[in-house]
Amino acid sequence: MIERTLSLIKPDAVQRNLTGEILAMIQGAGLKVVALKMIHMTKAQAEGFYAVHRERPFFDSLTDYMSSGPVVCSILEGEDAIHRYRELMGATNPEKAAEGTIRKKYAVSLEANSVHGSDAPETAAFETRYFFSAFEIV
Ligand code: CMP
Repeated sequence: MIERTLSLIKPDAVQRNLTGEILAMIQGAGLKVVALKMIHMTKAQAEGFYAVHRERPFFDSLTDYMSSGPVVCSILEGEDAIHRYRELMGATNPEKAAEGTIRKKYAVSLEANSVHGSDAPETAAFETRYFFSAFEIV
């Protein structure tokens, strides 16, 4: 099934000028970029995005980090895109990420793990709408 998923290139990776290399890995894996922009979230916007993690002990630190600098948001489209992008990202904890994944190559810590991708069709629907209007998706 053709799916769409939300990708974020997080502040640690944008700040280290890795946007182009990460987008090249995404496109090299055959995922199509159908929307793209750079934003700098406020703390409140980061809290809204990660609302599902509100009760987790890392929530305050995570939302501070995600609002600490620009992120590059994109919508990726392709067959089984949600699962394929999660495979390409690698495990949330970079110490457990497989060779050849984005997080193995670039992530610096569990929090500053360079990229985010939606984990299911329902979250993909919420997350793509959180960042993009219909006019911004080609
Ligand atoms: P992400 O895939 O964006 O989803 C939630 C984020 O919280 C995760 O990547 C990490 O950046 C961050 N995080 C920090 N600590 C943890 C933790 N213990 N478990 C899961 N995610 C964490």
